[in-house]
Amino acid sequence: MSTTTATSIFLFLFSLLLTTHSKPIPHLTSPYLSPATISANYDSMVKNFKIFIYKPNPHFTYDSPVQSLFYTALLDSDLATNNTDEAHLFFLPFPPDLPTRSIARLIRTIRTDLPYWNRTLGADHFYLSCSGVGYESDRNLVELKKNSIQISCFPTPPGQLIPHKDITLPPLASPHAPTSNTTTFLGYVRSNWVNDSAIVNELRANPEFLIESEPSTPQIYAQRLSSSKFCIFEYGDGDLSGIGEALRFGCVPVVITDRPIQDLPFMDVLRWQEMALFVGRRGGAKELERVLVRACWERHDQMRRLGTAAGQHLVWNVPPRALDAFHTLVYQLWLRRHTIRYVRRETV
Ligand SMILES: *[C@@H]1O[C@H](CO)[C@@H](O)[C@H](O)[C@H]1NC(C)=O
Ligand SMILES: *[C@@H]1O[C@H](CO)[C@@H](O)[C@H](O)[C@H]1NC(C)=O
Ligand SMILES: *[C@@H]1O[C@H](CO)[C@@H](O)[C@H](O)[C@H]1NC(C)=O
Ligand SMILES: *[C@@H]1O[C@H](CO)[C@@H](O)[C@H](O)[C@H]1NC(C)=O
Repeated sequence: MSTTTATSIFLFLFSLLLTTHSKPIPHLTSPYLSPATISANYDSMVKNFKIFIYKPNPHFTYDSPVQSLFYTALLDSDLATNNTDEAHLFFLPFPPDLPTRSIARLIRTIRTDLPYWNRTLGADHFYLSCSGVGYESDRNLVELKKNSIQISCFPTPPGQLIPHKDITLPPLASPHAPTSNTTTFLGYVRSNWVNDSAIVNELRANPEFLIESEPSTPQIYAQRLSSSKFCIFEYGDGDLSGIGEALRFGCVPVVITDRPIQDLPFMDVLRWQEMALFVGRRGGAKELERVLVRACWERHDQMRRLGTAAGQHLVWNVPPRALDAFHTLVYQLWLRRHTIRYVRRETV
């Protein structure tokens, strides 16, 4: 066999290897999981959605800013109704520090006094609880946890979220925008120095990465995000509050995690898999860098484009604006409004 034949066979095998091993990246123009229907569904939600809000007694305030923003916006919105016949969903507000037994008592009261809970055993009800509700074998609490829609804060403590039913509030983002965006770093990590993982500590030695303890100002933070190709977050102990800003400012989020994440904000609306990378810890910093370099030439531009398009959904505005965090949350509730209502059987 001549060397040229050998070379061409080698090249042929090599290209075969490349084509079989790298899945082609589909060209996507929309950050949505259902681009064909989202706009019509959203408009229909804005026109029709009605939510009945139980009146808390006594009055209380939520302790986290995102919960307060959501609650205030809901009370002030056109979605709120006092007419239970037209309500698609029922919102049950209770104080964040209410003991589980008192929550159980609260549900027992509404189920005894009013007809709505029994119709769906709580499935058309939703509640806010940043870290989820504790376990009790009490029937009322079991129904709340199993049937009602829980809105928790992102990230939700392990075991406190039921996928497909529960949703999370996106973190509050800083309103500051970057003033320029010339890429200088492959990766950026906002470190807390105390809990940094081995992988982040290893990255410190690599000049392609900027590992910085809390940036001095929100403006500098925005600047860091817009001047890095990838923003690295650690799921678990790390601080994930910048993930929405990273998307908005064109820094593709990279989440270090060893298991699938089920509580990302707007998971059933946005194509997270096409806008963010999820990398295990096992390969260490070397593997992380390899994944990023590869993504740079394969899909960074598209991820960045989809991410910046999706970014508006992670912004909390006061008052709320179309397609922002509040409205996208309400949209997720709208998608969950179809529940079976049982006709009450009268015992004669
Ligand atoms: C419902 O009733 C309460 C008091 O009865 C009132 O303050 C509130 O504005 C009403 N909400 C709507 C949406 O009509
Ligand atoms: C709802 O069902 C429970 C028992 O399943 C019953 O005790 C309660 O009275 C019912 N509520 C109403 C309003 O009928
Ligand atoms: C940063 O880049 C994006 C597009 O890649 C552009 O839309 C945006 O205006 C830029 N921002 C600044 C501050 O230059
Ligand atoms: C660091 O870890 C400790 C214990 O795991 C945790 O309580 C703390 O909140 C973490 N700090 C940060 C900034 O994530």
